[in-house]
Amino acid sequence: MGIDYTTTEIQARYDEFARKYAVMERVQELLGVRRLRRRLLRRASGSVLEVACGTGANFSHYPQGCEITAIDASRAMMDIADHTAADHGVDIEFGLMDAQTLAFPEDCFDTVVSSLTLCTFPDPIAALEEMQRVCREDGRILLLEHGRSSNRLIGRFQDVRENSHAKQLGCHWNREPLELVERAGLHPVTAHRTFFEIFHEIEAVSHSGDVT
Ligand SMILES: C[S@@+](CC[C@H](N)C(=O)[O-])C[C@H]1O[C@@H](n2cnc3c(N)ncnc32)[C@H](O)[C@@H]1O
Repeated sequence: MGIDYTTTEIQARYDEFARKYAVMERVQELLGVRRLRRRLLRRASGSVLEVACGTGANFSHYPQGCEITAIDASRAMMDIADHTAADHGVDIEFGLMDAQTLAFPEDCFDTVVSSLTLCTFPDPIAALEEMQRVCREDGRILLLEHGRSSNRLIGRFQDVRENSHAKQLGCHWNREPLELVERAGLHPVTAHRTFFEIFHEIEAVSHSGDVT
């Protein structure tokens, strides 16, 4: 049987794990994720919604002038994010909510950002549809995700260890982010993969465009 946590179960797990999350961030740093965050987020502009912000690892990478709103389902993760924002002198409006049912009207953000989250949302398509709904028609959706490696051995390892990996925090590491984005009806305009094609940097819009 696969692991299928609800948002409430994931939130409870993150509430408990939040103080240890720094270890995960250290691992991400070793894998070069900080550089990927910086590269993706320099494309953010205007009013920005960050969906499932975690402890705020993206906050220091936003260009000057962005007006940032950040949401997460876990209060404990957001409390740390609040400190991260203060440490970096970034002004952020926070909201505790489910990414799959965002409490914002349609077309109200210029940029919607989410990183390392499609692996964890119980319904990643619903979350992507919500990102699209709240993003202005001429806005952009910036995603930094990890998924199943195209390397045969690594991909196979991810499949075999899927359940034991998902058990801790509900992270399904063999999902296919680009496929999810397309299934949600978003149009990727740029999509780059790195590190055994595990990490995906995706910029998507609501209307159609070519992948470069
Ligand atoms: C792996 S962490 C990534 C955090 C951050 N985005 C980053 O790049 O470091 C996943 C985050 O998603 C949040 N999350 C999971 N499911 C959620 C949901 N349905 N709605 C909102 N946040 C959710 C968790 O609380 C956690 O903070």
